[in-house]
Formats: sequence, C-alpha cells, structure tokens
Amino acid sequence: FTCRGKWYVLCLQLTDLHISHLYIHKSSTMSHVFYGALPDRCQGIEFDAIALDEKGNALFFKDEYLWNGYHGPAQLSNESFKELDDIHGIGHVDAAFRMHNIDNPDDHDHIYFFLDDKVFSYYNQSLEDGYPKDIQQDFPQVPSHLDAAVECPKGECVTDSVLFFKGMFKRSFKRGIKDKNWMKVKTWPNLPVCTSVLRWLEHYYCFHGHNFTRFHPITGEVNGPYPKDARHYFMRCADFGGYQTPKCSDVKIDAITSDDAGKTYFFAGTTSSSTSSQKTFTILGWKEVTNGVDAVFSYTGKLYMIKDDQVYIYKGDAHYSLIEGYPKTLREELGIEGHVDAAFVCPSEHTVHVIQGQNIRNIDLIATPRVVTQDVPLMLSGIDAAMCGSDGIKMYKGSQFYHYENMVTLTSRIAQMPQNITGSMFGCRD
Ligand SMILES: *[C@@H]1O[C@H](CO)[C@@H](O)[C@H](O)[C@H]1NC(C)=O
Ligand SMILES: *[C@@H]1O[C@H](CO)[C@@H](O)[C@H](O)[C@H]1NC(C)=O
Ligand SMILES: *[C@@H]1O[C@H](CO)[C@@H](O)[C@H](O)[C@H]1NC(C)=O
Ligand SMILES: *[C@@H]1O[C@H](CO)[C@@H](O)[C@H](O)[C@H]1NC(C)=O
Repeated sequence: FTCRGKWYVLCLQLTDLHISHLYIHKSSTMSHVFYGALPDRCQGIEFDAIALDEKGNALFFKDEYLWNGYHGPAQLSNESFKELDDIHGIGHVDAAFRMHNIDNPDDHDHIYFFLDDKVFSYYNQSLEDGYPKDIQQDFPQVPSHLDAAVECPKGECVTDSVLFFKGMFKRSFKRGIKDKNWMKVKTWPNLPVCTSVLRWLEHYYCFHGHNFTRFHPITGEVNGPYPKDARHYFMRCADFGGYQTPKCSDVKIDAITSDDAGKTYFFAGTTSSSTSSQKTFTILGWKEVTNGVDAVFSYTGKLYMIKDDQVYIYKGDAHYSLIEGYPKTLREELGIEGHVDAAFVCPSEHTVHVIQGQNIRNIDLIATPRVVTQDVPLMLSGIDAAMCGSDGIKMYKGSQFYHYENMVTLTSRIAQMPQNITGSMFGCRD
C-alpha cells in the first residue's frame, strides 16, 4: 500500500513473512496549499527533531518545515506552531518531545520544543503562557543546543523520565518536581549521534542521517540489524524500494474497526501472490500480535484484538499499550471458543457480535461471566472482517464488502449485492 490522501500508516517491517499492514484512517484532511519547491523527505532527509503530538501523530521537523504524519508533503512549521520563529535569529527546532506525566495534567501530553537555549511548550497547537523560557528555567541542568529529546514513561524507563541527547551523552531527567529533579548522564557508545529520537508504540528510535537505529531506553543497547533506512518504515515513499500500491481487487481486509474519535484501524494484506514483491509490514509496537490479527473491535475506548484463541486489549489512547493481565483466552474473555473471523460493536452498544464461520454470536459485554446471548445463522460465509458505524454494518470478504443498515437486515434471509472495495476507502489502486 502506498498511503495517499488521508491515510496514516502504523507499520514497520520486521519480517518478510508477515502479510498484514495496519492503517489508521484519520477523518480530517490537510487543507494547505503549497507553492514553490518544498523539501521531499523521500530524498533522504536528516530530521532536526521528531515528536508525537497529543493525538499521536508523528511530527518531523527539518529547518523551517514540518511533516505531519507518515505521508504527505512538507508544510511550514510556523503554520502549525507560529511562535517558533518569533525570536529573531533563533535556529531550527533542535529537539522535541511529548511530555508523559499522568500525575500532572497541566503538563501531560504537552509538546516541548527546544530551540537553541529556549524551550517552548505547546498544547492543542497553542503556545502556553510564559513560554518561551530559558531551557534551564524549566529543565535545570539540561544543556542548550540539544540534539534530541524523547519521553520515557515509567515501565519503559525506571521512572517517568525524559531522555535528552547531546553528542554522545544521554541524560535522563525526572519530571514532576522540577526544582528537585535529578539527572543521570550516560554514554552509549553503541548508539550513533542521534539528531532526533522518537518513541513510537513503546519502542525507541534514534534517527541519524536518513537512517534509524532502535535502542533500549535504559541500557542504550541496540539489538538487530541496524541502522535501517527510515524511508522504508517511517514515511511512505512510493518509488522507494519498489514499493507499490496494490490493486483494489487484490486487497483483503483482515480486520477492521473504528474508534469513538472516528479513526478507522484496519489490517490488510493482499490475496494475490503476484504482489509478493511488496514490502511486508508488521505492527510496530503491538509486538504481541506481530503475526497479524483475526478480528479487532473497539469498545469503551479500547481496542480488542483477537488472534487464534487469545484476546489482547490495548488502550486506545495515543500510546496503545497492552492492558495488564492480557492476553487472555477467548473462553476467559468472551466465553467462546474456536476461530474468530470478524467481530464488531455498534456505536454506544454493549454487545459484541462475533462472526465464526456462518454464525454470528452476540455476547453481552456488561455481563459477568460473558456468555453468548444469541446465536444467529448468516447468509454469508467466508467473512474476513466486519465493522459497525453510524452508517450501518459492513462485512468484508476478499476485495468486496456487503453493506447492511442494521442487525435486522444483516440477519435477514434477504441476499445483498456485494460492492467492490475502492481506492478512496483503502488507498488501493482502483
Ligand atoms: C513562516 O515562515 C516563512 C518562511 O520562513 C515566512 O516567509 C512566513 O512569513 C512565516 N509565516 C508566519 C505566519 O510567520
Ligand atoms: C483546541 O483549539 C481549538 C481552537 O484553536 C479549540 O476550538 C478547541 O476547543 C481546543 N481544544 C482543546 C482540547 O483545548
Ligand atoms: C544508512 O545505513 C546503511 C546501512 O543500512 C549504511 O550503508 C549507510 O551508510 C547509512 N547512511 C547514513 C547516511 O547513515
Ligand atoms: C468489481 O470488480 C470486478 C473486478 O475485480 C468487476 O468485474 C466488477 O464489474 C466490479 N463491480 C462493480 C459493481 O463495480
């Protein structure tokens, strides 16, 4: 897949055997118009800074430009963060990170930018009162002219920390009590000098040149064949590495859901072996389900993923962390057994509809223990994925889908005509 228009991709190549891709569909589109030559990140750019915004979109900075997400053209960074060039003569963004500080809602999810000796704090694309400040006013002992910075929440680091990078040093800074902070300075000889660092789905990536190296945030260890070229992973470069958009008729949706915020997540592969030249991707960070998923549904702001007889529940916030105690078995979590083809919950309902072969099983998500309350045969078989939204229920089978207004029409004996998946739905070639 090449991500065009309004697609966000959350995928990372880990193994050539994997066939699933994960896409996040964002309903809003960018409306900027550009004139003149903009830098093209597919040419191989060394970014100045990378950070996630409060919605979980990755922001890539280079000079006065910004890329929002993993596809799309550059824009001027002052269009989104207009005060960043208010101070005359100040340079580009040296480092940026998104604060993770659950204990302090005034700080949590704010984005900090470091330019020369100044720090800017933004929330909802607005500069906070009192900023910019001198870096040391907010982060005592942290040097000016940083290379990179990244948040490191407790659980991934020993305590909630921010890692600052300058030269060969990594410094961690305990947040919260800014006047009683401590800082450790470490040297990580295995890590190249990082010009930007990104935490993406619980993994840590040091960017250098147009390459990146994944490292452990506590030890700095690098495991695996790094560096890798960022253009294969963190941006969609159509003509890079021979990557090709598959034809819509080859697409197979493995699992799909949309959350309360209107983001659609889908896992897709292709049915055609002739597209085997395609890069294969796996889900970065959702390391527990790197072999793809059978079904996914959203409920109360969480993503439920089903693979074989296991259920994984992820927090649906920007971090997508696995909820403690998971995975659990299908029997434990939903009171069913056997292969699940698809599953969906309709908006503001508390029933998950699980498709197993030619049956649809309704499970009350409020009842404990969970039991099947209804078991209805379906006209359709071989369903790959299903979702329910305000416009009804869609059942995906190969490169086609069936649209039903509601559960009544879905379970009626009236046959529906399938419709073809289109490029505007999934970014494939029509
Ligand atoms: C944004 O930056 C560009 C180029 O640096 C400049 O021409 C433009 O006037 C700036 N816009 C604003 C709103 O500051
Ligand atoms: C974000 O800012 C926009 C306008 O700039 C405002 O309409 C919206 O309510 C703000 N959202 C939050 C969560 O503060
Ligand atoms: C990027 O990594 C490749 C190895 O994967 C290496 O050959 C190349 O020199 C690196 N380029 C830069 C600019 O770091
Ligand atoms: C769906 O696609 C197939 C080819 O894949 C084509 O033959 C058929 O006419 C299409 N149907 C519609 C309704 O466009």
